Amino acid sequence: MGPPLIGNMLEFRKDRMAFLIRAARTYGDVVHFRPGPFHAYLLNHPDHIRDVLVGRPAKFLKNRIQGWMVEPLLGKGMIISNGEDHRRQRRAAQPAFAPRRIEGYCGMFVRHAEEAMKAWGTGGEYDIDTEMLRLAMKNLCEALFNADTTDISKRAEEALPIAIELLTKDSELWVPLPSWLPTQHNRKKKEMIRALTDIALSFADDWRKSGVDRGDLLSMLMLARDEKGCPIAQAELRDHLVTMFAAGYETTAFTLIWAWILIAQHPSVEAALHAELDRVLGGRAPTAEDLPKLTYTSMVLKETLRLYPAAWVLALREPVEDVAIGGYRIRKGSFLFISPYIIQRDPRYFDDPERFDPERFSPDAEKEIPRGAYLPFGIGPRVCIGQSFSQTEALLVLATLAQHYRVSVKPGQRLDPWGGLALRPPAGVRVRITPRTSGARAATEALSSAPA
Ligand code: HEM
Repeated sequence: MGPPLIGNMLEFRKDRMAFLIRAARTYGDVVHFRPGPFHAYLLNHPDHIRDVLVGRPAKFLKNRIQGWMVEPLLGKGMIISNGEDHRRQRRAAQPAFAPRRIEGYCGMFVRHAEEAMKAWGTGGEYDIDTEMLRLAMKNLCEALFNADTTDISKRAEEALPIAIELLTKDSELWVPLPSWLPTQHNRKKKEMIRALTDIALSFADDWRKSGVDRGDLLSMLMLARDEKGCPIAQAELRDHLVTMFAAGYETTAFTLIWAWILIAQHPSVEAALHAELDRVLGGRAPTAEDLPKLTYTSMVLKETLRLYPAAWVLALREPVEDVAIGGYRIRKGSFLFISPYIIQRDPRYFDDPERFDPERFSPDAEKEIPRGAYLPFGIGPRVCIGQSFSQTEALLVLATLAQHYRVSVKPGQRLDPWGGLALRPPAGVRVRITPRTSGARAATEALSSAPA
């Protein structure tokens, strides 16, 4: 448990992910540790995880201390709010994520991927992270604001990662430096957060001039009314929009970056993916109707999210009263850690867990995964509101691009993930992008139509 007051703080701060993995593998289902003066528990059994997130969510609130840390960026937005505030915010944002709306975004996801392909032309060497981050930002900006977003996405693309990086540094300290201290860290953080606020609010001002429902999230929020018929207050509107930026940008981009890396490292998966794309699409652009037919592409993405869940650890939960979990008494106010990354690599639930194998998500095999052992989007009432948005986006982007291009990772690069606020792939992963020849496409088509 470590010395009093600092407890396991030093070890934990040095490498939070390595510390938690070690703790889980050594001590099992419920691990008690002390990051400083706090009592913390890592829950590492699917039943305990479901108990907290699905069985008794009202007894476990999002932790206040973590909330204060991210509040400068997210305000009092949906990711950190609790109780009635959270329900009201979720209700207001939900219509933008309804199946009909997501279907409406499909053409846009494909159009942006096709624009990326135009730029790739006959191929070359690229940073795959830059390419995927740019694409995810364009998709998100258009879904949020339905605007020609080139300029705006550039500004957000610059400000958001810096703001997130500075907040990650705060979260590693556990007790952030007071925001009034005139440090370079604080100055930069304020500047980046102000830039994001300006982007969000300038769109809201523009929207008011026309007042038309354009089918984007902004319209949805501007038109939402509470029981008294009042619109959403300006500060809350800002928090909603910045929350969506923060939650929806890097998460989807990181998933795609890992997917490309894994596909490049596994030629048999790449071949099966190409065979499906050639069979289902035969060279044409995918549409919403193709989504249910792209089974293998979807399996590749699910397996990518098993090995590299962008939200590698969920927002900390805090019991509102003393509770028992799996026979352990856990005191009110403790910090509960739940890590999709750790449980999704647990050999008790996934055979040979480090192996990339999309077949784990074939329709039959998927049913065998214990509930609570696979949760890249969370579970229960606080499950990711953007799940279907991001799954649809990743599927259409991957299908559009992989149909026409191969990505190979230049050798000799370190490809370890880093567990900050999100699970980050390394920056600047160099890849070679080459067009798939029509000959290669014809060959996989022939293979996939040949009798088994
Ligand atoms: C691969 C992409 C994504 C992953 C892996 C992911 C993961 C998650 C997870 C695990 C949670 C639950 C956190 C918890 O229980 O503590 C969550 C919540 C949330 N996500 Fe996502 N997310 C993704 C994409 C998106 C997108 C595209 C958006 C919006 C455009 C979004 C918006 C949100 C919001 C607002 C919440 C808070 C929901 C609530 O508390 O009611 N996410 N996400």
